[in-house]
Amino acid sequence: MISSTTCVHNGFDFDPVTGSITAPIFTSATFRHPALGVSTGFDYTRAINPTRSVLEEAIAQLEGAKHGLAFASGMGAISTVIKLFNPGDHLIVGEDLYGGTYRLFNGYYERYGLEFSWVDTSNLALVEAAIKPNTKAIFLETPSNPMMKITDIAQAAQIIHDRNGLLIVDNTFLTPYLQNPMEHGADIVVHSASKYLCGHNDAIAGLVAHSNDSFAKTLRDAQMSEGASLSPFDSFLVLRGIKTLALRMKKHEENGRALAEWLRTHKKVERVFYADGKHAPHNQSRGGNGMVSFYLKDAADAPKILERVKMILFAESLGGVESLITYPLVQTHGAIPEAIRISSGVTDRLLRLSCGIEDAADIIADLDNALKD
Ligand SMILES: Cc1ncc(COP(=O)(O)O)c(C=O)c1O
Repeated sequence: MISSTTCVHNGFDFDPVTGSITAPIFTSATFRHPALGVSTGFDYTRAINPTRSVLEEAIAQLEGAKHGLAFASGMGAISTVIKLFNPGDHLIVGEDLYGGTYRLFNGYYERYGLEFSWVDTSNLALVEAAIKPNTKAIFLETPSNPMMKITDIAQAAQIIHDRNGLLIVDNTFLTPYLQNPMEHGADIVVHSASKYLCGHNDAIAGLVAHSNDSFAKTLRDAQMSEGASLSPFDSFLVLRGIKTLALRMKKHEENGRALAEWLRTHKKVERVFYADGKHAPHNQSRGGNGMVSFYLKDAADAPKILERVKMILFAESLGGVESLITYPLVQTHGAIPEAIRISSGVTDRLLRLSCGIEDAADIIADLDNALKD
């Protein structure tokens, strides 16, 4: 269980030289060597940087992992993790996940000989059925995005571990405050830290946490070789965001629940999807977030709502202090082929709201106004 205290004090207490209580932003691109063959531990910022190292330590601690890595985006983090696999390897991937991940796997890594099967991982019988002799990993989001389906992490881990493969969980939606996938058997956790971890819609960042010494060097080398490592300034922003993670997640959850409840009573809304955390198997999550998806009865209402909202912003992304509304069909999930999109439920009647930390009454009032006849 991650406490508020862990979030505030995680990774850095104070700088022993100056007494600074926040991690200094080391902007230096390179670091002087005291002598030939002697290093301070830092040489070149693409490979290692003191500010980024504090964040890497922080995410490792928050996820209960031995190793942490920080990247210039969530996609950079995911792309680097995929470097663990070889041409001919097969991965089972949740069909209801961020469209950019689909685009990366299907549009790029397939060309390099990796094979992907898109499966509703909340149905473990389908996961079992998708296993092939060359299956090396399962990659999933839980809750899924945007349909909020829950996958039993422990059982998914069991299925893939029986084949000596890896379970990779994108934990962006719940953050380590609400869910630690490695406690339930996941081998690697990835995050778009651009969302709740940074929390202020002012940085793009990605994180990886794992405890596997055998591939730690491969991932570190891939980070350095590809160069998608996180800048010192953005490392600082994510560290700052993490300090208030617990407080913010409580407010996001309060608003998410209030909005889901209100939408369920609205005459223009057919169905609401909110993962409240209570029904997750094996207590794998400790609560809900601020993410609410809903089907309108009439698709014609979707563009009207997007135009009419005032405080809620019509913008792609999630997890920040400002409430955002998204039309997954053309935004976050636009890269997913129609057949997969429809099978996962992303239709022209679906809207996704990321409740910020404003007052719930104001979010509801804005949406109420946007939903008027
Ligand atoms: C669940 C999830 N994973 C990964 C990503 C990609 O992260 P980034 O935008 O930081 O590259 C996103 C972006 O929306 C996301 O929602």
